[in-house]
Amino acid sequence: MIATKSISEEILDLKKQRRAILLAHHYQESEIQELADSIGDSLELARAAQKFQGDVIVFCGVWFMAETAKILNPARTVVVPDREAGCSLVDSCPADQVRAFKQRYPDHEVVSYINTSADVKALSDIICTSRNAVQVVNSIPADKPVLFLPDINLGNYVKKQSGRENMRIWQGACIVHATFAARKLSQARAEHPHALVAAHPECPTDVLKMADFIGSTSSIIDWCIHHDADEFIVMTESGVSHSLQRRAPHKKYYFVPNENCNCSECPYMKRNTLEKLRDCLSTLEPRVELPADIMEAARRPIERMLAL
Ligand code: 13P
Ligand code: SF4
Repeated sequence: MIATKSISEEILDLKKQRRAILLAHHYQESEIQELADSIGDSLELARAAQKFQGDVIVFCGVWFMAETAKILNPARTVVVPDREAGCSLVDSCPADQVRAFKQRYPDHEVVSYINTSADVKALSDIICTSRNAVQVVNSIPADKPVLFLPDINLGNYVKKQSGRENMRIWQGACIVHATFAARKLSQARAEHPHALVAAHPECPTDVLKMADFIGSTSSIIDWCIHHDADEFIVMTESGVSHSLQRRAPHKKYYFVPNENCNCSECPYMKRNTLEKLRDCLSTLEPRVELPADIMEAARRPIERMLAL
């Protein structure tokens, strides 16, 4: 009898042949995270892409994250299993609208969340992620007006934390985090009275007000793992349960469903599957291709953030 290889074995073989690294965001399916060389939040994955020495980066995350990897590695091939793995925040912020804002308010420093297109990054002064957004805004001289884009909830959180008054905020939102409701969180707290609440800063202000901890996906995981408590209500995408269960299996984690569905999953992130991952390693498509001038202009604000 001829033994057939599993899809995971095929992926690992192809990865070796291609001299590829597999980067996976915490919101990917568990079976993808299991095969990854590096799992992380958007800042950690940008750093891993920057240090990489091989030929191919397979980015199991969403398209803007892969674009960031390409901008930091222009000579390398960067692929994503599914071209439609997008992000509602990217869609909320077209480059022509940012260009029009800059023409109208040329004095503003543009701070862009990493969840933006390469074209928008190329128009930005500095990039931030959910992990360093407060630090990035605090690094800008106090008298300089700021445009923060595109996430309204993260922007409001940063404005409050930094105490900065001269800050305009774009009106974009994440379809996952922005639809967590304080009412459902209150219900979860009543059901699990000993649980602490950890929330991603893309959640609405009334949810963040109820949180014991606010941070990026990796920061939430680290906080739950190292805290003395044993029960947590986790207000982010449920893919983080993979690392939580692996690193602290004795603790309990509760996920609150979004308002308009019965899960807390990002439909864009979940477009990537093992089959599509195998196929993209085999064909090296869909591939991130960006004009050289856009990459050069977008690299400056990313490197300015990474240098902080
Ligand atoms: P992180 O920076 O926490 O990885 O967040 C990225 C993201 O898309 C959150 O929805
Ligand atoms: Fe974009 Fe929200 Fe999905 Fe993150 S969870 S990739 S912000 S839509």
